[in-house]
Amino acid sequence: PHIPVITVDGPTASGKGTLASEVARRLGYHYLDSGALYRITGLAATRAGLALDVAHEHTIARMAEGLPILFLDGRVILDGQDVTDAIRTEEAGMNASRVSALPAVRTALVALQQGFRKLPGLVADGRDMGTVIFPDAPLKVYLTASAAQRAERRHKQLISKGISATLPALRADLEARDARDSNRSVAPLKPAEDALLLDNSQQTVEESVAQVLQWWEQKQ
Ligand code: C5P
Repeated sequence: PHIPVITVDGPTASGKGTLASEVARRLGYHYLDSGALYRITGLAATRAGLALDVAHEHTIARMAEGLPILFLDGRVILDGQDVTDAIRTEEAGMNASRVSALPAVRTALVALQQGFRKLPGLVADGRDMGTVIFPDAPLKVYLTASAAQRAERRHKQLISKGISATLPALRADLEARDARDSNRSVAPLKPAEDALLLDNSQQTVEESVAQVLQWWEQKQ
């Protein structure tokens, strides 16, 4: 059967997760946060004491393939331990970016990601959802916002969680992460040729959600 999928790709802190999960909720579809899988892999490898580089590419890929993970009521459980907050730190994001540049790790996570495509449908967010994982998706969104806006949003998010952070450091971090994600040889961050571009710098969440739902209706 043909199972519908909407992909939402874009740079760090562009609001992909907020947009994609809300669109999924409105449509009653499943939701895949693919970045979480790289974050979990980075965390598991770090906890195993591995340097996150090519020397350990295949060991980390094998870990990624057999990740003992569970998604339970919005919590992420790794090997019986709640890692929901641990995978959301800036450091975890940077580590995710490191393991995600290893081709064998990306390959190891393909089947797991494609397995989220179940009826009645899926909304998937990440960097390569439209280009690599779901190339046949009928609607591909590429979400962007200025670096200044993205740093500001991330800053607010962290402060609201009681985590201290400075704006310039956050902006430098996210620009470094975007550079690595865009320049890697495998599945670099870039819009699919048939992606629709959405710049949400001047939009509320509701406006972006409405735009995507309207595009989706036009596809039916
Ligand atoms: O989206 P999020 O910030 O959680 O992703 C963390 C990191 O995982 C990204 O910086 C990127 O390097 C990597 N990633 C990826 N492909 C995806 C999703 C995330 O390479 N589909």
